[in-house]
Amino acid sequence: MHRLKDRVILVAGAATGLGAASARRLAQEGARVVVGDLDADGAEETATGIRAEGGEAVAVGFDISDDTSVRHLVLAATRTYGGLDAVHVNAGDMGAVRKDTDVVDIDLAIWDRTIAVNLRGHMLVSRHALPELLARGGGAIVYTSSIASFTGDAKRPAYAATKAGINALTRHVASRWGKEGIRANAVAPGLILTPEIEHGAPPEMLRSMLNRTRSTRHGRAEDVAGMVAYLLSDEGSWVNGQVLNVDGGTVLR
Ligand SMILES: NC(=O)c1ccc[n+]([C@@H]2O[C@H](COP(=O)([O-])OP(=O)(O)OC[C@H]3O[C@@H](n4cnc5c(N)ncnc54)[C@H](O)[C@@H]3O)[C@@H](O)[C@H]2O)c1
Repeated sequence: MHRLKDRVILVAGAATGLGAASARRLAQEGARVVVGDLDADGAEETATGIRAEGGEAVAVGFDISDDTSVRHLVLAATRTYGGLDAVHVNAGDMGAVRKDTDVVDIDLAIWDRTIAVNLRGHMLVSRHALPELLARGGGAIVYTSSIASFTGDAKRPAYAATKAGINALTRHVASRWGKEGIRANAVAPGLILTPEIEHGAPPEMLRSMLNRTRSTRHGRAEDVAGMVAYLLSDEGSWVNGQVLNVDGGTVLR
């Protein structure tokens, strides 16, 4: 399928995991992909892999929590490919999640870092990308939320708050710019077995997460990438302001 032929798409947070799979899928669908990540070597690895498959991609190191750095990322995209058509905002500080205990115990630096990367960072990418999308007559954004934005948990309050914030950001962007041709949606994955989770998570936790699904298997990064590609393509052109679960039926709403 070549639903994204020649579109310029930025994936913010694409060195590993869901973002890397999304960048790869978007390139397979014909997009020219800007692979942004704090891990500049990892971003280069993703871009090199895409080029090895015959796709088009450049890597840019950046920090989503830093306004100037995000501005430079968007500038790099437009300078390299002459404009911007779509964005997948995906970065999340997964190191902080492990120390995201509860609101009485949490180190405030972990709370602040989680907000800075997972929520403020997503707003910063929107802020700098939207004028470029509007300059092309419209465009699409997909944010990576999580089912944690809907469910309750005794742990990870900062993570869940940022993901609920992303849902609100999604609705705001769709409401403010929908009439100008902007679509903003979010994907809310359930547990996705990235190599890090597959090898790092205790087997009993993986079993209990599988039990919570209505599926025979765990999620894969490619499951989310397929939804991102659909939402960024014209096939998703009547979908706006939505948070779509990709979770094997874990949360039914
Ligand atoms: N894996 C899951 O089960 C799952 C489930 C629901 C939602 N998510 C969300 O998917 C996204 C990706 O998660 P993942 O599991 O692929 O983890 P990951 O750690 O592989 O991916 C996160 C990416 O964000 C990058 N990043 C972190 N801080 C950054 C910063 N300051 N600036 C720029 N880039 C930065 C990392 O380097 C990494 O490449 C996250 O937003 C996460 O919350 C993951």
